[in-house]
Amino acid sequence: MKLPLTLPVITALVVSSLVTGCAGHHAAEHAPYTPGLGEIMSMTSTRHAKLWFAGQGQNWALAEYELEELREGFEDAAKYHPTHKEITQPIPKLIATTMDHSMDEVEKAIKAKNILLFTQHFDAVTAGCNACHQASAFGFNIVTRPTSNAFSNQVFSTAP
Ligand code: HEC
Repeated sequence: MKLPLTLPVITALVVSSLVTGCAGHHAAEHAPYTPGLGEIMSMTSTRHAKLWFAGQGQNWALAEYELEELREGFEDAAKYHPTHKEITQPIPKLIATTMDHSMDEVEKAIKAKNILLFTQHFDAVTAGCNACHQASAFGFNIVTRPTSNAFSNQVFSTAP
């Protein structure tokens, strides 16, 4: 097809190349990446396991780090997913009621370097995970104490 290059045709060509090329490119470049709640939860699950093995290894610096990562994951969940189509309560409120207290207690145990308290409050954290899953439509998703360490490429005991 040969278009007569009249002014309207040239304008149309320029506009369409701007829309498909330039504008599309910029939109992709600047669109912020937002993790889905399921993705945040996968990371949360990893941090939960690593927190356990760090605590059992009495590697308190690592335990503190993993607890902080766990908290940041919940902050992202609250920020990016304040509501969920299958959950009646607001997510930030659910996190506060199910997680905050036990995470604070784990933090105290880490600071005190007390493995007994750590273990006790870690179990309370796990119960909090399950309380939130039960309060939502995800009660089938049951979190437990990890039984074996899937992360053989990381040191969990106190570094030599
Ligand atoms: C706000 C309430 C809430 C809290 C607190 C919470 N979860 Fe979840 N969790 C969810 C929801 C909702 C889903 C389903 C997300 C989706 O896929 O849309 C989920 C999904 C999951 C999944 C499934 C992800 C997958 O890919 O298999 C795991 C694992 C998980 N959570 C672990 C945890 C752990 C571990 C904790 C505690 C440290 C925790 N969750 C705390 C609400 C919560």
